[in-house]
Formats: sequence, structure tokens, C-alpha cells
Amino acid sequence: MQQKQLEQIDKYVRKIFTHDETGHDYYHMKRVANMAKEIAISENANVFICEAAGLLHDIGDHKLFSDPVKEKKKMITYLQSINLSTEHITAVNIAIENISFSRGKVPRSLEGKIVQDADRLDAIGAIGIARAFAYGGSKGNLIFADTRKGTTIEHFYDKLLKLKDLMHTRLAKEMALKRHAIMENYLTEFFKEW
Ligand code: ADP
Ligand code: NI
Repeated sequence: MQQKQLEQIDKYVRKIFTHDETGHDYYHMKRVANMAKEIAISENANVFICEAAGLLHDIGDHKLFSDPVKEKKKMITYLQSINLSTEHITAVNIAIENISFSRGKVPRSLEGKIVQDADRLDAIGAIGIARAFAYGGSKGNLIFADTRKGTTIEHFYDKLLKLKDLMHTRLAKEMALKRHAIMENYLTEFFKEW
């Protein structure tokens, strides 16, 4: 039953995020769901909620949707239509309500903290570097400039290099250290070449 529901959610999310060019495509949702599942197992958290919330976490993001409230309502209607229980829908909603870095909030459930960790892990390391340049390119930002402001390289200092210290779970902290080192090496090489 839950496996079938996850497959249905997967299809729903794939459809919504197929054409994204800002680094928030379907495969970001899939990686976050997979990572959230792995962390959930190591934390004895609710694996189903973490995986479902991982897939759904960017639905209603104000950067990505012109009408976030409507998009969230559509999501809930969809979850009801595939027979997710009211408790599961509530748990998913709680898990995704405060994910965003820009809002600077800590999710109130363990499952929310896990999805936030998974989302942040996908913003750092090799994938994170790729996503940052995809995002910057989609907004017309320069790779780098001597003024620094508004460039994608500056985003590493504004945000990405801070993420390793903001992880909640043990596994995410461990993985973040490795991914952080990849970014540091990358930046060293970048400035040598620059
Ligand atoms: P959140 O959804 O947690 O608020 P963001 O949407 O800010 O996080 O970040 C999601 C992805 O977009 C990350 O991979 C991040 O690096 C990238 N991103 C966000 N803002 C910028 C920016 N100004 N320059 C480059 N990449 C960015
Ligand atoms: Ni995300």
C-alpha cells in the first residue's frame, strides 16, 4: 500500500518538475527522497513520511511557483485521492513546512529535520556545485567577477559553505564534511585558474 502510494507521488512530482532549469528538477526531489530515506533508517524515524516528504518538499516553494498556496492545495487533494490517511498528510505537511534555508527556520518534527538535512546535502558537494551554477545561469548571474556580489561563486560563501554546521542528524553531519571538503578543493582550484 505505502509502496504504491510512493510510486504515485513519484509520478505526480516528476510531472510537476520535468521542465525546471534552476536545479530543482525531478532528480533533485528523487535524490532528496532517497537521502531522507537513508537518514530516516539510521535515526529510527518514519521512513515512509521522510520519503514522501522528500519527494514533495519543494511543492509550493515561492521561488518556483507563481501561486504557491494553490499548488499546496492541489498537492493535498492529490494525496487524498491516492488514499493517504489524514495523519500521513498532516505529517508530510509538517515535515515540509519549514524546509527552506532562506526562511532560517528549524522544522518541528524529526522527519522535517531529516528532509531539511537531505535537501541541504543536495546543495553541497559535487552535485551542489553543479546545481549552484545551473541556478545562477538560469537567473543570468555571472560565474564570478571582481566585485563578487551576485555571482555564483559568492553564493558559496553566502550559503553553501555554512551548511555543514547546520545539519541536525549524525549521518548528515558525516556526509556534509566530505561534501564540504569537495567544495573547498573546488574553490581553491577555481581561484588558481582564475
Ligand atoms: P531553499 O529552497 O532551501 O531556500 P534555495 O532554493 O536557496 O534553498 O537553494 C536551492 C538550490 O539553489 C541550491 O542548490 C542553491 O545552491 C541554489 N541557489 C539558490 N540561490 C542561489 C544563488 N544566488 N546562486 C547560485 N545558486 C543558488
Ligand atoms: Ni529542495
